[in-house]
Amino acid sequence: MNKKVRISTIIKMKSEGKKITALTAYDYTFGYLLDEAGVDLILVGDSCGNVCAGYETTLPVTVDEMIYHVKSVHKGVKRALLVADMPFMSYQETMELALRNAGRFMKEGGAEAVKLEGGEHICPTIKKMVEIGIPVMGHLGFTPQSVHELGGYGVRGAEKKEAAIIKKDAQMLHEAGAFSIVLEKVPATLAKEISDSLSIPTIGIGAGPDCDGQILVSYDMLGLYDKMKFKFVRRYAKLADEVQKCVSEYCEDIREGRFPSKEESY
Ligand code: KIV
Repeated sequence: MNKKVRISTIIKMKSEGKKITALTAYDYTFGYLLDEAGVDLILVGDSCGNVCAGYETTLPVTVDEMIYHVKSVHKGVKRALLVADMPFMSYQETMELALRNAGRFMKEGGAEAVKLEGGEHICPTIKKMVEIGIPVMGHLGFTPQSVHELGGYGVRGAEKKEAAIIKKDAQMLHEAGAFSIVLEKVPATLAKEISDSLSIPTIGIGAGPDCDGQILVSYDMLGLYDKMKFKFVRRYAKLADEVQKCVSEYCEDIREGRFPSKEESY
């Protein structure tokens, strides 16, 4: 095992110009596989609402559901930095609720940091979390928990006014103490400007090549989940096809009496 990845490692990687690799995981097996393959940061994303629970959006995901996933992934991860996504309404309502829930992700889930969506309005919460020892990753641009408010899944910050707000928010998250920021679905030029202006790393998803690192939903990049197709997803496999092929072969073998064989029986 290479050295354990810590918050300081992630920040140092930026200053050394080394790209940060990140993916999502939702269970022990994927946590283990991604970690063994050498990914630097594993996010237990609330995208589990889409790919594991089958919800249309991430909004219904609860803290208890997320803690179950974080705990499971934690058991499989040794090297990567483990970040837990705080779900919708687990940190927006009051500071007390936000701190209690963030604490649960660390105490019960084994997370090493939490991720919150949003800009200026969540800076006091980030500041307080960081003060009490909870590292925070920010998330700007397209923020899936605000999909209804944003009016869909479009690119954010394509217009000057919104780009300026995102840039200012990034600066404010940095000042509040966030150790890195996910930039989702923003123009590559804006992501570059933000990345160049901060000493903390940006992790891009649909934000071009100049972010300090990249993240994808593992089910998307492995071709396991194809209900939503975004241009920024590079598919490295077609596992959904492979799973269906294997399952139909298995069914065929049972139906034809080929499984189990003598060798597979006691
Ligand atoms: O929930 C998630 O998987 C995320 C990543 C896509 C950044 O927030």
